[in-house]
Amino acid sequence: MMVTSVAPVNIAVIKYWGKRDEDLILPINDSLSGTLSVDAMCTKTTILASSTLKENIFLLNGKKQSFENPRLLNCLQEIRSRANPGLPQLNWNLSICSENNFPTAAGLASSAAGYACLVHALAALFQIEGDISAIARRGSGSACRSIFGGWVQWCMGSSPTGEDSIARPIAPASHWPEMRVLILVVDDQKKKYSSTTGMQRSVETSKLLEYRATEIVPKKIEAMKEAILMKDFESFARITMEDSNQFHAVCLDTFPPCVYMNDTSHAIVNMVHTYNKFKNSSKVSYAFDAGPNACLYLLDSVVDEIFSVINYVFPPVTSHQADYITGIPITREPISEELKSVFEHNVLDKYGALRYLIHTTIGDGPKTLNSPDDHLLNLNGLPK
Ligand code: DP6
Repeated sequence: MMVTSVAPVNIAVIKYWGKRDEDLILPINDSLSGTLSVDAMCTKTTILASSTLKENIFLLNGKKQSFENPRLLNCLQEIRSRANPGLPQLNWNLSICSENNFPTAAGLASSAAGYACLVHALAALFQIEGDISAIARRGSGSACRSIFGGWVQWCMGSSPTGEDSIARPIAPASHWPEMRVLILVVDDQKKKYSSTTGMQRSVETSKLLEYRATEIVPKKIEAMKEAILMKDFESFARITMEDSNQFHAVCLDTFPPCVYMNDTSHAIVNMVHTYNKFKNSSKVSYAFDAGPNACLYLLDSVVDEIFSVINYVFPPVTSHQADYITGIPITREPISEELKSVFEHNVLDKYGALRYLIHTTIGDGPKTLNSPDDHLLNLNGLPK
């Protein structure tokens, strides 16, 4: 019995940071994100269940991992407890093979896509119906949002058992088709400290986090939902940037501080504000997760122009041109003389500060792939 799923990454515009229960992964505030199209960034997972498998196997990006990972086991246990007890596959070993088409653990939401994909494939294998976001949450908090496409809210819930800590779709991807996402990859290496460790430390030491969770986020969630439903980009952009900045302020208010953004990240923030000021309105917004990479949310009408600004401010290394931009192609137009004069003092004379760019859209939730060619495993449970 073999199933393969693909699942998307999501980038929060109102961030999740801090848990009230580490084991159940229950957050201290609601969060809200856009699910990105699987065309540019996704996790693909194949699971084989077979009576002939001698042991459980877990492969991530070609490397064997321990199956004794508590988060993986929690997801499996939740799935098994919901399955029809008569299913034969409940007694069989599993071979799980998962691959990302983007850097793992570099602050690019790989755990979100990874656990959403795992749980989606397990649900197909064990014939689970209904909402599986609470199961994905047991793998990684942000993974529950990747169970749906479009714009998604993770409601923190109030039950101590976590059954109401679930994701809810706010609007489908088709609601705001003009929305674009540009990921500026500053660093694709593993992060210094994981979100899990960082947020634990913030909960223990940051008073600002407490204030954020109780006073700020509930109002921001409502304002953000309204901005999305009204397709009010100006408000959307402002709230997104403010929330990202506040999240990183909390990280600095943590003791010892968690420093995720670097000089290039701050130069990107500066570029966005300079551009918005020039335009007299917020045309581009940024959001940074637990790493230095930037996620820009913007409308399709400004993509070409902002790309000309990015290339001017962050000159790429010319030998990397071919794979410098992935996803939706962008017309490379020269920067206008007007913009050049605005940005001439901001040019970073460090060539190649951005490693590469990903241009994508808001997309749909996870899906099952049915062609045998899509499977990552052979029938013996080993990778193809
Ligand atoms: C900064 O979901 O990776 O990306 O629940 O411990 O696995 P765990 O953390 P994780 O944290 C994501 C934090 C964030 C913000 C967000 O995605 O909302």
